[in-house]
Amino acid sequence: MSEDLSIINGTKTEQYESLLPQIGALIEGEPDLVANLANVAAALKEQFNWLWVGFYLVKENELVVGPFQGPVACSRIRKGKGVCGTGWEKEKTIIVPDVAKFPGHIACSSLSRSEIVVPIIRDEKVTGVLDADSADLNHFDKTDQFYLEKIVGLIHF
Ligand code: SME
Repeated sequence: MSEDLSIINGTKTEQYESLLPQIGALIEGEPDLVANLANVAAALKEQFNWLWVGFYLVKENELVVGPFQGPVACSRIRKGKGVCGTGWEKEKTIIVPDVAKFPGHIACSSLSRSEIVVPIIRDEKVTGVLDADSADLNHFDKTDQFYLEKIVGLIHF
């Protein structure tokens, strides 16, 4: 896909419904993982303009930061640490309405107020996580969970 992304206004569901096929088209036929993660992070940033969105990948039993959009972030996170390490350990999506109330939250940016972490599971193992941060409290909900889980499911790991 060589054209620009089509960015729309509308409800959260309408925005994801517009973005989902475009992400599918972006990564279809592209086998390179870094290329696909970079384009997915960029597409989500363009549509939603979250503070930070990107990937951490499991490498030698740590999460290591991968392609992302937003301010610089911590490079490595251990299993069970922060929201990302908790999503990895529990193997489920974590929605944090207020990061100040999440014990052990790792503050990569002082502007982050709420967060969602979606684990990427292949062959019953977590291979990485998608992480998104918002500058607004209470930003992410079940709709984000539903669509972000679909989006990570499109990526060939
Ligand atoms: N807040 C995350 C760390 C990663 S940054 O938000 C990009 C956490 O607690 O795991």
